[in-house]
Amino acid sequence: MPAKESVEVRLLVPADLDRVLEIEAASFGDPWPRAEFEGGIRSEAPPIVAVCETQLVGYLCSLAAAAETHITNIAVDAAWQKRGIGTLLVKTCIVRAARGSCQWVYLDVRPSNRAARALYERLGFVEIFRRQSYYIRPREDSLVLARPIRPGDVPGMGTGAAGDIRGKR
Ligand SMILES: CC(C)(COP(=O)(O)OP(=O)(O)OC[C@H]1O[C@@H](n2cnc3c(N)ncnc32)[C@H](O)[C@@H]1OP(=O)(O)O)[C@@H](O)C(=O)NCCC(=O)NCCS
Repeated sequence: MPAKESVEVRLLVPADLDRVLEIEAASFGDPWPRAEFEGGIRSEAPPIVAVCETQLVGYLCSLAAAAETHITNIAVDAAWQKRGIGTLLVKTCIVRAARGSCQWVYLDVRPSNRAARALYERLGFVEIFRRQSYYIRPREDSLVLARPIRPGDVPGMGTGAAGDIRGKR
């Protein structure tokens, strides 16, 4: 029987940046530089991080513009994947968007990224169009996915602040 661990979601702070950059470098061929995350901290929709037993295990960055929220980056440490942490981060982003005046959440995903696409589809995102050669290292199109904010998103999407994750490290 896998043990359940509690995970907290909170805003990114400067002391988190080294750990975030470590996960970022391990996750992407074209990792974001430190300045991109630092800019996020100062933005209207600061990045969120998932913390389990004091260890930062994942993060999500987004941009809020008028009635739209764009998820611009999400990663979970490989050792902590497939336990619901990515889902918790996206749900928390949706709750935050729903509490504002947001109507839609958008994101780009590589067609080859089966794990991420499955996560987003389970949360109700649908493909709306394809951008040609959007990604580099390696070069690939992007699928733009969208999900409307729904009336039940705030009360129905969990606490938006913490949750249980599956399995044990
Ligand atoms: C995409 C990512 C954030 C998912 O994080 P995660 O914490 O593992 O996601 P979850 O545990 O919440 O998974 C939710 C669902 O996504 C799907 N999924 C997740 N990982 C998967 C995998 N390796 N293969 C297939 N489906 C997968 C499953 O449907 C899963 O539900 P299930 O566990 O009930 O089967 C993580 O794989 C990651 O950091 N990847 C590298 C960075 C990246 O690709 N980011 C996305 C850029 S668009």
